[in-house]
Amino acid sequence: MNKNKTMPAAAHTENSTDTALLDVKDLKTYFLTDAGIVKAVDGVSFTLHEGETLGLVGESGSGKSVTNLSIMRLIPSPPGKIVGGEIVFEGQDILKLPEKELRKIRGNKVSMIFQDPMTSLNPFLKISTQMVETIMLHNKDVSKKEALERSIEMLKLVGIPSAEKRIFSYPHQFSGGMRQRVMIAMALSCNAKVLIADEPTTALDVTIQAQILELIKDLSVKLKTAVIIITHDLGVVAGMCDKVCVMYAGRIVEKADTDDLYASPSHPYTEGLIMSVPRMDVAHKNDRLFSIEGQPPNVIDLPPCCPFHPRCHKDMEVCRHAYPPTVGVGSGHEVSCWLYVDEAQRNLALEKALADEQHAAADAVQTNARKEAAK
Ligand SMILES: Nc1ncnc2c1ncn2[C@@H]1O[C@H](COP(=O)(O)OP(=O)(O)OP(=O)(O)O)[C@@H](O)[C@H]1O
Ligand code: SF4
Ligand SMILES: [Mg+2]
Repeated sequence: MNKNKTMPAAAHTENSTDTALLDVKDLKTYFLTDAGIVKAVDGVSFTLHEGETLGLVGESGSGKSVTNLSIMRLIPSPPGKIVGGEIVFEGQDILKLPEKELRKIRGNKVSMIFQDPMTSLNPFLKISTQMVETIMLHNKDVSKKEALERSIEMLKLVGIPSAEKRIFSYPHQFSGGMRQRVMIAMALSCNAKVLIADEPTTALDVTIQAQILELIKDLSVKLKTAVIIITHDLGVVAGMCDKVCVMYAGRIVEKADTDDLYASPSHPYTEGLIMSVPRMDVAHKNDRLFSIEGQPPNVIDLPPCCPFHPRCHKDMEVCRHAYPPTVGVGSGHEVSCWLYVDEAQRNLALEKALADEQHAAADAVQTNARKEAAK
């Protein structure tokens, strides 16, 4: 791909956004803490269509979980608050729905599975009780017998052997991988249209991880469920996602179809993430895997610059003073990085940012002088 041939992102947003099942637009979720404002999610936008699998990738603290908890409207408040944006699901903005309407969507049409199934399963109740309750809670017309039949059917679908007997077990009588399968069965038992899987396999060993991911992929095809997979690991998304959003410091820095992202990663952070994935066909220097140097930034009171610049080997002066715009670099492929903006625009942005910084510094001096005078 020609990286110099860029165009405004708006001309390149994914097609048929109007028919998207889920359309997240400019979502902003902040936490008001004693230390300052944590801009955990700061202007995140993406779409998800029926049956599509989206990978949300990024290092710890990049805002992946907060994005998805916002979709479920499960942000603890205080200190958290969704301060801006829209989350349009089947044409309705979830953020504007009254709690009663929201309950019809949460856990029913949009379902979530977590890293550790024990946080969601009640250790004192049999799986049968928990599954039947979940189904009956979301489907008022279903009898207990029908809910039990549906639960057994779902356990079979996720590969629990002797489901008719095992359903009467307690969670601790299942292995970690089996518990995760139970969680998936529960999440999908109400015919969820969107399944959000937050690091669904990190607590499991590698073979079981692969099986669970395969299972989620199969079910998404079979049941036409759209899936959002949250992970640190670009290797995970390679095998199962149709498209990927790479998050850094609360924002999406690159968005593309999975094949495009791997074939031509555009953001230096994405390049680093891809190089960090172990590959059988490439010999690694000194047998050591590449890792991105440095740490992700603290998202409290971030200055208006590219937050990746202290770790970027391609940074320029403008990167240290202004946040890069989002530009299209291919069909449905967007990146937020100054490398893809022409030099004249970069220079203009730098001039403006430096002038703004000077004004802010002058204002600060005046404010301090006034305070001193008032003492
Ligand atoms: N309840 C909270 N109060 C204050 N800050 C919070 C709270 N929950 C999350 N944050 C902050 O929001 C930011 C994003 O957190 P989030 O949990 O979304 O990261 P993540 O990408 O899911 O990371 P990980 O991969 O470690 O799960 C972090 O800086 C985190 O410290
Ligand atoms: S904007 Fe600059 S610092 Fe940020 S990723 Fe691009 S080149 Fe690197
Ligand atoms: Mg998380």
